[in-house]
Amino acid sequence: MANAEAHRQNRARRVVRWIVIVGVLFLTVSVYQFKGRVNSAGSLLTNANLAEAMSQKDDAGAREAFLAAYTVLIHPRCMNCHPSGDTPLQGEDSHPHAQSVKRGPDGRGKYGMKCGACHQLTNLPGANMPPGVPKWHLPPPTMRMTFEGKSAGDLCRQLKNPRQNGGKTLEGAIEHLEADPLVLWGWAPGDGRSTPPLSHAEFMQKMREWVTKGGACPE
Ligand code: HEC
Ligand code: HEC
Repeated sequence: MANAEAHRQNRARRVVRWIVIVGVLFLTVSVYQFKGRVNSAGSLLTNANLAEAMSQKDDAGAREAFLAAYTVLIHPRCMNCHPSGDTPLQGEDSHPHAQSVKRGPDGRGKYGMKCGACHQLTNLPGANMPPGVPKWHLPPPTMRMTFEGKSAGDLCRQLKNPRQNGGKTLEGAIEHLEADPLVLWGWAPGDGRSTPPLSHAEFMQKMREWVTKGGACPE
């Protein structure tokens, strides 16, 4: 009888001992993991950013943001310099540029018809006068960046493709839109020209939203 009682007490003690051992082990591992994270601030940051980026991924939201930005990309102020052929476009109806102006080998015009011969550093005042900002030109024939005739889905995929966007990451491609004089010109295009349907700030916000939500493309 006393023997059986001692046996039961022994077993209870063994169970308690195991619980304590497992508990201590668990605590030790947790403390080490925590120290690891705090010690390397870099990895703490990366983990936090990754978690944040993952929590923001939202395909439907990304598509919606891109569709809003697309209304700017295909507006004549932008599309006229992103034609499907080798002739820049002009006006609200995006007709081919007069004077047989062509893209040329570097986007700056062919033979004597260089863009800079007519397009100055600023818009010339008056209707139908050449608009201007420094380095007025088309994308070169090796990296055409065509917007004309592209569906929202096709243009979205093109902007993401490093082979078609000049080797940029998605973030790099949109940062460039923040301060590029050619892009900003779209909102100060000179007498008689309309501006895109969103402000530059709204456009940038939609492009950023598209990227932070994961960059999904419309069909
Ligand atoms: C005078 C011509 C011109 C105008 C106007 C213009 N662009 Fe461009 N755009 C270019 C050129 C040239 C490039 C190629 C990069 C460079 O050389 O600056 C480019 C590049 C881009 C790119 C990068 C494309 C890619 O695949 O990465 C985007 C996006 C873009 N432009 C958007 C716009 C928007 C939006 C507007 C209107 C608000 C606009 N552009 C107006 C000439 C123009
Ligand atoms: C012989 C002079 C001349 C040359 C060369 C020239 N342009 Fe133009 N361009 C003009 C004039 C003038 C206008 C304004 C037309 C108007 O508003 O009716 C214009 C308008 C434009 C527009 C339309 C802007 C808009 O949104 O309505 C674009 C884009 C353009 N030029 C691009 C170019 C490019 C790129 C080159 C070089 C490859 C070039 N041009 C060379 C005279 C020229």
